[in-house]
Amino acid sequence: MSEVAVLDAQGVVVRYPGSPPVVAVDGVSLTVAPGETVALVGESGSGKSSLARAVVGIEKLAGGEVRFRDAPVKPLGIRRRDLALTGIQMVFQDPSTSLNPRRRVGDQIADGIATARARGAEGSTVAEWLERVGLPIDVATRFPHQFSGGQKQRLAIARALAARPSLLVADEPISALDASTQTSVAGLMRDLVAEAGAGMLFISHDLAVVRRIADRTFVMFAGRVLEAGATDRVWSAPQHPYTQALLAAIPEPDGTGRIPVAPSTNERIVWSEIAPVID
Ligand SMILES: Nc1ncnc2c1ncn2[C@@H]1O[C@H](COP(=O)(O)OP(=O)(O)OP(=O)(O)O)[C@@H](O)[C@H]1O
Ligand SMILES: [Mg+2]
Repeated sequence: MSEVAVLDAQGVVVRYPGSPPVVAVDGVSLTVAPGETVALVGESGSGKSSLARAVVGIEKLAGGEVRFRDAPVKPLGIRRRDLALTGIQMVFQDPSTSLNPRRRVGDQIADGIATARARGAEGSTVAEWLERVGLPIDVATRFPHQFSGGQKQRLAIARALAARPSLLVADEPISALDASTQTSVAGLMRDLVAEAGAGMLFISHDLAVVRRIADRTFVMFAGRVLEAGATDRVWSAPQHPYTQALLAAIPEPDGTGRIPVAPSTNERIVWSEIAPVID
């Protein structure tokens, strides 16, 4: 028997009202094992954020089921504290949304540690977490505006991981950072999550970074998964023509690793009609 997944989503459907309604996620299944980093990639509007919000209970499920460490995820609303006590942490594109501008950063990491204790997890110290994310201990008394974007995201990661979550959901956590720090922050997240035996659902447009840090990759298009498998397999032998087009658009390693444009937004129907490849 394999270990119980930290996240097990089956047949997830997310629909937004309108005429006609938007089916943002159209029957997606995925699991995240303890210690595993699973990446979601796909062009803008493919449903990555909608899926991420649905699996943590922020977005209502129009279909399917989500289990978190073998217990059903309840729709919690957007109450971060409830999510935190359940063992779920989120990190977003803009680190300012994760940090309180009026509180000293050390106190905010201490909040994470308090959450860990409330969940019965082992405590740690603010100093330890600052060291882990590569910041000197004496910054603990500073406020968020005194840091660069990359440093703020490191602090947001420290605060999230100090709560000792079982699952970290990171939606474009490196997009707002300087190109020079993106890879190191992503690598740091992956290492800290794996070291803690937590799972991470990592959403990024940066395929070069995904290739370096994700154990498995899910390729989404128009609300569906077109291809999923071990990152090494997906990258070395992509089976779905959409994945092949997506990967062909990655610039050479000397570039920034970003895909400037989606492979082909005009061929939506064609891509979706080709059978998915899911390992
Ligand atoms: N609150 C909302 N109300 C209505 N439609 C929405 C809402 N949020 C997202 N959508 C629509 O759902 C679809 C999926 O959007 P979503 O934000 O999940 O995609 P994404 O893959 O995260 O895109 P991006 O890469 O730009 O972040 C899009 O068509 C989008 O316009
Ligand atoms: Mg998004």
